[in-house]
Amino acid sequence: MTQTFSSTGSDRFVGSARSRVDGPAKVTGLARYAGEFTGPDLLHGTVVSGTIARGRITGIDTEAAEAVPGVIKVLTHENRPRTAWLDYNYQDAVAPPGSPFRALYDDKIHYSGQPVALVVAEDFETARHAAALVRVSYAAETPATDLTAVGDLAYDPPKKRSGIKPPPKPWGDADAVFDTSAVKLRETYRIATEHHNPMEPHASTVIVEGEGRYTVYDKVQGVSNSHAYLASVFGLDKDKVRVMNPYLGGGFGSGLRPQYQLFLAMLAARDLDRSVRVVLTRDQMWSFTHRPETLQTVSLGADADGTLQALRHDALAPTSRFEDYQEVVVNWSAVLYRCDNVALTYKLAQLDVFTPGDMRAPGAVTGVFAIETAMDELAHATGLDPIELRLKNYSERDATAEDKPFGSKALKSCFTQGAERFGWSRRNPEPRSMREGRELVGWGMATGVWESMMQQTSAHAILTADGKLEVGNSTGDIGTGTYTILTQIAADSLGLTMEAVTTKLGDTDLPEAPVAGGSWTAASSGTAVMKACRDVGEQLFKLARQMDDSPLANVDFERVAFAEGRIAVADDPARGVALVDVMRAAGVEKLEATASAAPDKDFNATYEAYTHSAIFAEVKVDEELGQVRVTRIVSAIAAGKVLNPKTARSQILGGVVMGIGSALEEESMMDTRLGRFMNHNLSEYHVPVNADIHDIEVIFVDEEDKANPLGVKGLGEIGIVGTAAAIANAVHHATGKRIRDLPITIDKILA
Ligand code: MOS
Repeated sequence: MTQTFSSTGSDRFVGSARSRVDGPAKVTGLARYAGEFTGPDLLHGTVVSGTIARGRITGIDTEAAEAVPGVIKVLTHENRPRTAWLDYNYQDAVAPPGSPFRALYDDKIHYSGQPVALVVAEDFETARHAAALVRVSYAAETPATDLTAVGDLAYDPPKKRSGIKPPPKPWGDADAVFDTSAVKLRETYRIATEHHNPMEPHASTVIVEGEGRYTVYDKVQGVSNSHAYLASVFGLDKDKVRVMNPYLGGGFGSGLRPQYQLFLAMLAARDLDRSVRVVLTRDQMWSFTHRPETLQTVSLGADADGTLQALRHDALAPTSRFEDYQEVVVNWSAVLYRCDNVALTYKLAQLDVFTPGDMRAPGAVTGVFAIETAMDELAHATGLDPIELRLKNYSERDATAEDKPFGSKALKSCFTQGAERFGWSRRNPEPRSMREGRELVGWGMATGVWESMMQQTSAHAILTADGKLEVGNSTGDIGTGTYTILTQIAADSLGLTMEAVTTKLGDTDLPEAPVAGGSWTAASSGTAVMKACRDVGEQLFKLARQMDDSPLANVDFERVAFAEGRIAVADDPARGVALVDVMRAAGVEKLEATASAAPDKDFNATYEAYTHSAIFAEVKVDEELGQVRVTRIVSAIAAGKVLNPKTARSQILGGVVMGIGSALEEESMMDTRLGRFMNHNLSEYHVPVNADIHDIEVIFVDEEDKANPLGVKGLGEIGIVGTAAAIANAVHHATGKRIRDLPITIDKILA
């Protein structure tokens, strides 16, 4: 079959399972990460982290550190160069409202773990040793870090965060109708603070190129964001700074915003006029952003048959004292379920912590856990099957967005196909009714939902006379498979092999693209690459028509197809010519185009776009040991067209694994006396390991969507959403215990 420009339909590579094109580089060590690049006379910076959560620095004794041979300088708020103008010009595409954290700005301590000095030395070991010799004294104040103790200090964030929908105004009368409902359920739910912990810690290497030029390698999910940040904060000419990150060892959102190690590396490089690398330690990965602990109350009022009459979802989340971080927590309840009386609220409280940040499906992981556990409780209370209850209250329109219909919503197929694969019909609804040896067995399910988004994105395509195609833009592949899907799209667009295509990413010399986040990269960069290739294809077509005895004479562009390295008449492939022959005949060495893709305004005026999922979980619980094992997960996903079933499946597997972590293990524990996360290492902050993971099956249901020309909706985040609720619901089914406080650790099972 041949391929015309749409990547739906007759594709050769798009839609087929392909291994990662960047896989060999990653597993052989050829791939280099931000902290691995080097330059002449590279210096190494080690961050000294503060030990109190609130107060002032009264003195920093750097004498011993500076006396260590090889130490070049110890930078603190007292001696930092005044070349950074953080006050007025800060730019960061993902920043919430407020005044961003400024490392080494003054003597004020905002949170525990705050960087208070940077020790710069000729080698890493010296810097690390000397950092341990820096003595900091403080005037400490009592920090407030307990979300349960904020009382009436909670507030509605006055400035809304760009791109984050605030809760809609209430409709109907949720409280009055709740009071008179036949079935009433009001419970509180909590999700613990989580830290992202990508494998690759945050790192920045700044190479001084001379004449005011810098090349910067930064661990960030979009180099354009770091580029704008550096230019604005240091007053640099954008043309003189190039930021790159060809590979990332994960991000999960921790790399959406430039973090303080980038600032410190550039500060030192400019001060010393030497190249500098700063790599954070694993425990310093607890010294900046995190998924915020959130307290929620869900109130459901229903008829005896399970029809929802009243729905209230209230959330309280912490933020820092300097920024109002916001995420969408409560809206999901009314996106998923139809109800005539709804009230949704989302409040913040300021604590002495760093600003929370987006972590894989921010807000949805939190809010959907609450509503999907509450719906399971309602199913139990009304004696309905959990799927039946969800179908009874199924939404066909988005009540949080002027009641617009969904562009597509194949959630019912997720229920049907997921249930079938899982064997849901064999479930005995009675808790504690299933047992295997010494373990209780539980089956639970939940729905997942995430917004399907697209962002303004550019990309280029360059076809050279040797038949090779390069495409790319500045976004990052955070491990999701972006290199691979863009290569597939480009290859199909011009009828080339994947081997003939090179995809370049993570470089501000490439066309501008947003951060890789929000699950929008496939739709955004994919469409931009397709359009750039289409432009090149049109140029080729024009040249082909100009050839002597052109086989395409009298043929419109709409009737040609690109396949097997040729441009030919779609329904008469013999009438065609090789791309390289077209270029040779025209005497051109290369054809290039830059195109940009943007959200479809007409579509968005009419429809709302979400991905959906149905997650089915089996747990086995040893009641004597309090141990929960997740022995089986089926995750059925409706996310539009799947570009690459292999990388797509990997995205969902990763999301499910992270969901298991969120359900059973992940928790950054705050000692509220010290205002400090106490388990700041991977031995005490648990993430799932191989032994925790058993069967995970992923199903992609058919779904046609028209929000973008590719028909894709994005898969980076949907896999985690709802997974914790499915597990918590399975734990209830196994044990009869309803645990509304994540993670479900041994103590809670034994309690
Ligand atoms: Mo994702 S939390 O938008 O990297």
